[in-house]
Amino acid sequence: MLDEVIAHLRREAEIGGYRAAAERAEDLEQGYDVIAELVGCERDEVAFTDSATRSWLTAFDAIPLGKGDRILVTEVEYAGNAVPLLRRAEETGAVIEVIPSDHSGQVDVEALGELLDERVKLVSVVHVPTNSGLVNPAKEIADKAHEVGAIVMLDACQSVGQVDVRGTGVDILSFTGRKWLRGPRGTGALMVRNEVRHKLHPRLVDMHGGEWTGPNEIRLRDDARVFELWEYSYADRLGLIAAAKFALDKGIGEIEREVAERAKRLREGLSAIPQVEVRDIGKRKSGITTFTVEGVEPQTVKQRLYEQNVTVSVSPGNSTLLDTTKRGLDEVVRASPHYFVTDDQIDQAVEAVSRSVR
Ligand SMILES: Cc1ncc(COP(=O)(O)O)c(C=O)c1O
Repeated sequence: MLDEVIAHLRREAEIGGYRAAAERAEDLEQGYDVIAELVGCERDEVAFTDSATRSWLTAFDAIPLGKGDRILVTEVEYAGNAVPLLRRAEETGAVIEVIPSDHSGQVDVEALGELLDERVKLVSVVHVPTNSGLVNPAKEIADKAHEVGAIVMLDACQSVGQVDVRGTGVDILSFTGRKWLRGPRGTGALMVRNEVRHKLHPRLVDMHGGEWTGPNEIRLRDDARVFELWEYSYADRLGLIAAAKFALDKGIGEIEREVAERAKRLREGLSAIPQVEVRDIGKRKSGITTFTVEGVEPQTVKQRLYEQNVTVSVSPGNSTLLDTTKRGLDEVVRASPHYFVTDDQIDQAVEAVSRSVR
C-alpha cells in the first residue's frame, strides 16, 4: 500500500500528474471492481471519496426529506452523522427517533418493527460504533426496514476491513480507508444501490458527476460516480485499492476470525484486572475493545500506555452521545487489535494496563 502511494507520488513528480494518471488508468478503473467485491455490490454502485464522513454526508444530503418524514437512528449513532441529521431535521421538519437497543446493547429488531410505518424514510445504522465492540445486526435491520420501503444507510466505517459487510442488504454503505483496511488517510468509499440512487437528488455535483451539454443544460451520470468529484489524490486512491486487495487476498472471513480471537484475549486479560471495566456491549463483537480504569482518566491511561509503547485511543463521550448518556459513561479507552498483533503483544498490553493502574 505504502509502496503504491509513494511510487505514484514519485511518478507525478517525474512526469507530471496527467501522464502519471494515464499510466495507471486501468488500475484506477479496476478499483471499482475491487471495492464492489469488498462490499458485495456492482461496480457501478461504487463511488470513491476522501473519507467515510464525506461518503456518508454526500449520500445523506441526496435523500429527499420533508415535513413529518421520520428518520430512525441507533443508540450508537456517531456525532459526525448526528450533526447533519439534526441540521437536516431542523431545515426540513423531518423528525429523528431512536431505535431502542435490547438488553445486550444491539439494536432491538422487534422494537424497530413496532416503530416502522410508511413515514419512515431513512434508517441510519452504525454497524460497529466508535466506542464499543458491538456489531449491530445490519441484515435483520435492513430486512425489517425494507418492509415499509425505508432507505437503509450503513455507517460501516469501523467494520469494513474487519467484519464482513457483504450480504447486509443495505441500500447505502460508507467507509474509510484509514481504519481496519489499513489504507491511507484521506480516502473513503461509498456504495449506493442502483434502485435507490434513482430516488436520490445528489447536490454537490461537478463536471465529473454531471456533463454540461448545452448553455442551460446538464446531464447527470447514471451511476454512483455522480457522488464523486473530478479532483482527488490519485496516489491515495491507488493506496486504498491496494489495501482493499490486500484484505480480499487474506480473506475477510479469516481476518474477522483472527481479529475476534485477539479481541477476546484482550478482553479476558483486561477483565482480570480488578480496577478495569471492559465496556463493550452487544451479542456479536468486533475487534474494538473499550475499557475504563477506576480512578484513572482515559487520557491518562492512554498516555501511560503510549509511554510503554502500546498505542490506544480515547473515544470522547459526545462522539456517541446517546449511548454514553444512557450508560452513564464519558470517555473510554479504545484498543483495536488487528490480525498482525501477536498474542505476546496483547499480553504485554494487558500488563501495561496493569502497570497504569498502580
Ligand atoms: C462509526 C464511525 N463513523 C464514521 C467515522 C468517520 O470516519 P472518518 O473520520 O474517517 O471520515 C468514524 C470515525 O471514527 C466512526 O467511528
